[in-house]
Amino acid sequence: MNDSLDYSPQELQTILQKTTALVLDQYARVDQQEGFHHFPQSEVASWFDEPLPLRGCDALDLLDLVKHRVFDTATGNLGPNMYAYVMAGGNQISTVADFLCSTISQNATKWHLGAAMTEIEKRVVKWTADMVGYTPEAGGVMVSGGSAATLTGLTVARNIFLRQYNVNKNGLFGLKPFTVYCSSETHSSTDKSVSLLGIGSNQLRRIATDADFKIDLAALKQQIEIDLAAGYTPFCIVGNAGTVNTGAIDDLTALAHIAKQYAMWFHVDGAYGGLVSSLPELKAKYAGMELADSIALDFHKWLYQPFEIGCTLVRNWEVLRESYFKQADYLDTSLEAKSERLEFNEHYFQLSRNAKAFKVWMSLKAYGFTKIQAMMQKDLDLTRYLEKRLDAASDFELKTHSDLAIACFRYIGTQLSSEKIIQLNQDLIPALESDGRIFITGTKLRGEFVLRACIINHRKSEVSIDYLLAVIRDVATNLLART
Ligand SMILES: Cc1ncc(COP(=O)(O)O)c(C=O)c1O
Repeated sequence: MNDSLDYSPQELQTILQKTTALVLDQYARVDQQEGFHHFPQSEVASWFDEPLPLRGCDALDLLDLVKHRVFDTATGNLGPNMYAYVMAGGNQISTVADFLCSTISQNATKWHLGAAMTEIEKRVVKWTADMVGYTPEAGGVMVSGGSAATLTGLTVARNIFLRQYNVNKNGLFGLKPFTVYCSSETHSSTDKSVSLLGIGSNQLRRIATDADFKIDLAALKQQIEIDLAAGYTPFCIVGNAGTVNTGAIDDLTALAHIAKQYAMWFHVDGAYGGLVSSLPELKAKYAGMELADSIALDFHKWLYQPFEIGCTLVRNWEVLRESYFKQADYLDTSLEAKSERLEFNEHYFQLSRNAKAFKVWMSLKAYGFTKIQAMMQKDLDLTRYLEKRLDAASDFELKTHSDLAIACFRYIGTQLSSEKIIQLNQDLIPALESDGRIFITGTKLRGEFVLRACIINHRKSEVSIDYLLAVIRDVATNLLART
């Protein structure tokens, strides 16, 4: 190492070679990757329990440590045995892109701090707008994920809706409470956003759903009328383009019309399902999404990107700028900006930002969207396969028929009492976690606990689905044998 933090070219080459070997080793074993490696929390903490290192160590030794303690123990998000939450498995070219992106450390905040990266982000926004059927004037910004995308959409909603009060300057003080509407199945990031924006979770109206877990439109209208009569200001509807529990898609056209009728903002949470709307077989179900004022999307879900990357789309860039532009002498570009340069810092909360869109751009270029859509279709087909297998099995009970790639079900064994079935399925979660072969989590549907398998992973096959059921059956049988 010379008198900087740089290694010599030879040293760096050796480090990169070893790093490449680590990466190749992950992919060599990806088909067998376990869902989870069960170590007690205190043991994992002990691996890293040391005082601040004042003297550096050999980088190759450090890579050995990384392999042993981090790579070899990593939760199996890449592999075919992950079914929990919404874990999309990443893709190889985006991994390369992340590395390249860090190498040049561009700050995608001001055009001249990352000219190519800014134009790439604009291009990815445009492609994304095309994917969801937005018009070419649509604007957008890459954010950390679905939660940040909804917070951004609702921030803009609040500021634009309340233009007359200039809440950017005056805050919410002295205003009548205004109300937000969504279905009871809506993701908790909407609750968080409503709290953070000073609207208050008491003003979030969670409306009942129908038999398919879609928002009940009559109940929604009724609640809006009740609120109007009580002196509230209804201001925003959040529609679901794929709920996290079951993949339910609300009637987005109807929601757009109701929002228009009451002069409200219409935001769509498409974090889970928004990007699959481009598939011909699903297009009709998403009708109306293009009418939204803002849409939250997640590329680390159905675009198979490594964490983190989400996106907020709006009808045009101006509404983002209206919320986020702040004049500051040290950021002023009026001397050099005599062109069409877009400044992302004027369209989003963050100032310094990594160039997240680069990996999306590289993967869309490398694979082509048609290939990615084929992987989305495979996820849907595998979910239908899982549903069929569950329906056919006498010891499993399928609880949902999703339009997307989620199946909720229970293990029911043979001739077990309903109390025993409830207990068994709850016991299965920790038992499967310590078993580790597959990773699945649960949820509640109308108060009933179920296992929930989410299938967004281009590395899965029918063999993986068969394995999922075999492992659950095996672990359940062992649990029953112990009671
Ligand atoms: C429907 C929906 N909205 C929002 C989110 C939050 O996204 P993120 O985890 O990227 O913040 C999720 C995550 O699963 C989701 O499924």
